[in-house]
Amino acid sequence: MSNQAKHIAIIMDGNGRWAELQGKKRVKGHEVGAKVVKEITTYCSNTKDIERLTLYAFSTENWKRPRLEVEFLMKLLDTYLKNELSVYLENNVRFEPIGDIRAFSKSLQKTIKMVEEKTSHCDGLIQSLALNYGSQDEIIRAINTLKDTKDDITAEMISNQLDCKCDVDILIRTGGDNRLSNFLLWQAAYAELFFTDTLWPDFTTKELEKIIKKFTKVERRFGGLK
Ligand code: FPP
Repeated sequence: MSNQAKHIAIIMDGNGRWAELQGKKRVKGHEVGAKVVKEITTYCSNTKDIERLTLYAFSTENWKRPRLEVEFLMKLLDTYLKNELSVYLENNVRFEPIGDIRAFSKSLQKTIKMVEEKTSHCDGLIQSLALNYGSQDEIIRAINTLKDTKDDITAEMISNQLDCKCDVDILIRTGGDNRLSNFLLWQAAYAELFFTDTLWPDFTTKELEKIIKKFTKVERRFGGLK
């Protein structure tokens, strides 16, 4: 039987370079990148087998960027969520943020929670945006919730405390770099990794389809033998 791509996770890299290549400001790349988020989410919501799509939208390290770029990303996220609420509902997509959103402004936190609540009844695709997310931060927060436990800590106990509790099947990184950048390190333990030079604003459903096709043929052994 071929593999099922139930959980796809994407590191959406290359927005800034895409814009610079066209002589535009970096933030233009983020703006176009947000449109690609919508296209890919809609595609996944209409594709059999895909249950979850997790997208790296803002990392715990992204605060190091220039203040204006960070502010732009915050505003873009707020507008995106408000505008896309109807699209989430039309496509039966549940929005489930991961990451520590307490660092965001009160009004952005309110928007995030509003979309999460209003889509909570949707039972199609789960779209998770990783927001102020870092895998190490997520694991530390999980372990801190368990530190008073008397029993030995198990993998299952840690997993149950993570923001994202599901193993990743396919992890894609666009933009040409071959690293995981602190994204879903625990959940991607046995993920199939796909790195593409395509910059995120140029990423298409066609390329995603090709990746899924390749994935279905991979022999996954999870550390065992065939
Ligand atoms: C990486 O590109 C991308 C980000 C840090 C942010 C991802 C944001 C989006 C895709 C758009 C907004 C998303 C939503 C959901 C509204 P980069 O800036 O690191 O590009 P570079 O490597 O070319 O500099």
